[in-house]
Amino acid sequence: MLRGAIIGFGEVARNGHWPAYADSHEAKIVAVVDRTETRRKAARETVPGVATFATIEELAAGADINFVDICTPPALHGEPMLEALARGWNVLCEKPMLLDLVELEKARSLAREGRRAVVPVHNWKYAPIVRRATEILRSGAIGQVREVEIETLRIQDCAVADPDHPNWRRDPAIAGGGVLMDHGWHAIYLAGHWFGQEPTEAHADLHRPTSNGVEDEATLTLTFPNGQAKIFLTWRADVRRNTMRLTGERGVIAIDDDTLNAGGEPIRFESGLSAGSHHADWFAAMLPDIVAQFHRPERALESFQEAAVCLSVIRQAYRLRVELPLA
Ligand SMILES: NC(=O)c1ccc[n+]([C@@H]2O[C@H](COP(=O)([O-])OP(=O)(O)OC[C@H]3O[C@@H](n4cnc5c(N)ncnc54)[C@H](O)[C@@H]3O)[C@@H](O)[C@H]2O)c1
Repeated sequence: MLRGAIIGFGEVARNGHWPAYADSHEAKIVAVVDRTETRRKAARETVPGVATFATIEELAAGADINFVDICTPPALHGEPMLEALARGWNVLCEKPMLLDLVELEKARSLAREGRRAVVPVHNWKYAPIVRRATEILRSGAIGQVREVEIETLRIQDCAVADPDHPNWRRDPAIAGGGVLMDHGWHAIYLAGHWFGQEPTEAHADLHRPTSNGVEDEATLTLTFPNGQAKIFLTWRADVRRNTMRLTGERGVIAIDDDTLNAGGEPIRFESGLSAGSHHADWFAAMLPDIVAQFHRPERALESFQEAAVCLSVIRQAYRLRVELPLA
């Protein structure tokens, strides 16, 4: 049984990750690091017998672990990641994995040299309806995919638990960007997963409600060797909904939140893609793969590269953006 520490016991740690560890026979959480006492107390009340610490140094001195699971806000992923690798621990990290390409290459080198895994939480690939769509695509049912369309509609940005930064998703210094960094990250690795390729070009139109704030709406176009991905993301929709559409040479696979259409009878899934924000069942489905990558770190190189592509695309999109008029 692997022994892990969660770094940052906020919403996703408590509601998305912890329930899967509680049921796992392969990995358990023995420690939590959070800089606030409120969240350390929440961890002690949630995770039976857990040791809590305010810093990684205290964690290293007080607990015996094999891996860390980083669930802090985005700008606070890099420091614990590099520190964990230096101490010889494997790393699981929430998206957006890192915000800086230099830091990302440093983490990649440290992981390679130390033979450790750094695994990004790319959990949307593990949503049951997405897995089914991927199986149908891989079976050859629609031939080579030519276009991927992904739409993520949200009425607002997601609530957070960080008592020190209750609005960090709208703070560029902590979030690293707006809806494109937040939801766009998922859409980019899904598009790459379905094309089986890396994009060669990215272009974005962004809407920022204030000139120094983050974007609350983004349209992203990605060019792949075999086709295009068109991605629309918003925090200012009237409804909460996710749609995805894969157009191939011989047909279409369409996801409308909880319903999959791939030529035959529509297949209805238990919950829609837009139901909830923390997706404990997707994390539970991903956990065996995470453990396998911790045991064989060379297997993590592919998912690390997927994260590297997400960051490069978003960086390029921000550089080449077209600003839409302020609302
Ligand atoms: N994959 C998904 O589906 C998904 C869903 C939600 C959130 N996320 C990601 O998870 C991460 C956390 O999001 P959240 O909504 O849980 O945020 P949150 O604000 O609810 O939780 C963050 C926690 O980190 C703690 N923290 C902040 N700085 C710290 C530091 N330096 N050291 C230790 N602890 C620190 C805070 O006290 C808080 O408890 C983000 O990167 C977010 O994008 C991913």
